[in-house]
Amino acid sequence: MTSSARTNGGVALVTGGSRGIGAATAVRLAREGHDVAVTYVNGKDAAAEVVGAVERLGRRAVALRADAADPREAAGAVGRAVDELGGLDVLVNNAGVGLLGPVESLTLDDVDRVLAVNVRAVFLACQAAASRMGQGGRIITVGTCMTQRVPGPGGTLYATSKAALIGLTKALARELGPRGITANIVHPGPIDTDMNPADGPYAPGQAEMTALGRFGTTTEVAATVAYLAGAEAAYVTGAEFAVDGGHAA
Ligand SMILES: NC(=O)c1ccc[n+]([C@@H]2O[C@H](COP(=O)([O-])OP(=O)(O)OC[C@H]3O[C@@H](n4cnc5c(N)ncnc54)[C@H](OP(=O)(O)O)[C@@H]3O)[C@@H](O)[C@H]2O)c1
Repeated sequence: MTSSARTNGGVALVTGGSRGIGAATAVRLAREGHDVAVTYVNGKDAAAEVVGAVERLGRRAVALRADAADPREAAGAVGRAVDELGGLDVLVNNAGVGLLGPVESLTLDDVDRVLAVNVRAVFLACQAAASRMGQGGRIITVGTCMTQRVPGPGGTLYATSKAALIGLTKALARELGPRGITANIVHPGPIDTDMNPADGPYAPGQAEMTALGRFGTTTEVAATVAYLAGAEAAYVTGAEFAVDGGHAA
């Protein structure tokens, strides 16, 4: 009678899991019973701290250096996680770069880098995961509130990249649904991280844009990701989840 073979627990891969939303998600998924692989590029020590936090929760963990800007490394991280932890049940596409600026100021290199990290790497990781995940797998992608409502100028490249992930999510939901694999996207609002500190120069304006009048926390985003990764979300797919304090309201 059950609609999904999976229970909570299994193996999760969180890209960009050394800091911010990814680190909070890795720890939360461990709390839910998952073994966790995280990727990073520069934050070796930070990634090791996340591994330690997961292990203290009694789960296995591994940190993988894998630059999402490199297509081989982006795709290869999935296979490495499978090799290290013995399978893949949950893929969280979290690694991303935020590059804001007037559209005329953006260089071809800017465009290539943001699309490589925010779009191509996510596509390749999903592709690699699709060939390794079994019944009940979960693909959860981190988008942005700026795909729902762009609050001002400077977001053309970032919003373009993240909007592509909505199409990918819906198409994956259709393609992988027959195998019981779900694909969903979470759109954070302004979240207090290194990328977007709550005491930064643009923070007050961002907080004002939300209905709740404040920044969110990484754990508030991680909670929604954990829900989507869990057994209770078996009938949720192709959906967009705003965790944005009402930014889009
Ligand atoms: N914070 C916000 O307000 C906000 C709002 C909406 C959406 N988001 C999205 O949420 C996600 C996480 O953002 P965050 O605020 O937590 O960012 P963050 O604090 O800057 O952390 C970014 C994480 O991604 C990793 N990363 C960056 N470039 C990478 C690459 N080329 N390959 C692999 N990993 C890479 C970093 O690893 P190392 O530095 O350790 O190498 C780090 O672990 C991003 O997709 C972002 O677009 C954030």
